[in-house]
Amino acid sequence: EKEEPTSTRLPLTSIQGVPFLKYFADNWKEVESFQARPDDLLISTYPKAGTTWTSEIVDLILNNGDVEKTKRDAIYIRVPFLEFAVPGLPSGTELLVNAPSPRFIKTHLPVKLLPRTFWENNCKIIYVARNAKDVAVSYYYFNKMVMVHPDPGTWDDFLENYMAGEVSYGSWYDHVKGWWEKRKYQRILYLFYEDMKEDPKREIRKVLQFMEKDLGEEILEKIAHHTTFEKMKDNLMTNYKTLPNNVMNQEVSPFMRKGIAGDWKNQFTVAQNERFDEDYERNMAGSSLHFRTEI
Ligand code: A3P
Repeated sequence: EKEEPTSTRLPLTSIQGVPFLKYFADNWKEVESFQARPDDLLISTYPKAGTTWTSEIVDLILNNGDVEKTKRDAIYIRVPFLEFAVPGLPSGTELLVNAPSPRFIKTHLPVKLLPRTFWENNCKIIYVARNAKDVAVSYYYFNKMVMVHPDPGTWDDFLENYMAGEVSYGSWYDHVKGWWEKRKYQRILYLFYEDMKEDPKREIRKVLQFMEKDLGEEILEKIAHHTTFEKMKDNLMTNYKTLPNNVMNQEVSPFMRKGIAGDWKNQFTVAQNERFDEDYERNMAGSSLHFRTEI
């Protein structure tokens, strides 16, 4: 019989100054001592940047575009979430320890919290970044529907907390800039959600090259077709509908919500946008990292 999760919304705690879900923090020792393998492929993102999308692309590439093979299990089993730990569900580290190589691993950890064995083993990492405004909106609805997150309050409350880095995983700025800097020294493919929306095949080609795979135009076409927002919204193995409502309540907001660039325009007031832009300038000053907030 399936064990019912007994989790609840708890205030955030912190790991080395980074705001963290209490349940995840309780399992931190397992994450910190995680043993990466040289052939692990890590998919790293700040939450809501396109993790699930990229994970499905990567798994399809490994399986040479065979859609049936990627239907073998839900995305959170095929690509375990390293630091995930919620009562009643298998933790990321539990799923990963006995998984056969090559493993795909998902994480939202900022650079400074990534277990050091990933660096020591020179693991390949795909980092996906998405513009701060669309992430804010997506993260707000996600906090509402994922029942282990603190209640985000009103949109205005949440936006203030997000700007201050007082949300799970902390500052979006620190995250995207930290990984941007790290790419100079490690095997990191740094992708942008907006580029993936603009030209999926161009970006999938980059992933293919990074994974040292050559599958040909027809399979590339097939992968792009299978990983559109509409396809993934309808796919039970990618839309998270296999999780119980008391973990993820998709009646509040679907996981596959809108899947576009520029939805922030439907959410930000003019005043919020001005305030956000000012703060953004301050935080990104001097950085060579540039985002598009629409395409
Ligand atoms: P929205 O809430 O803006 O719709 P993550 O997987 O990192 O949690 O990111 C989730 C976001 O990516 C959601 O954004 C979701 O709709 C979007 N998304 C998921 N699959 C997608 C796809 N195939 N194409 C475009 N966007 C996708």
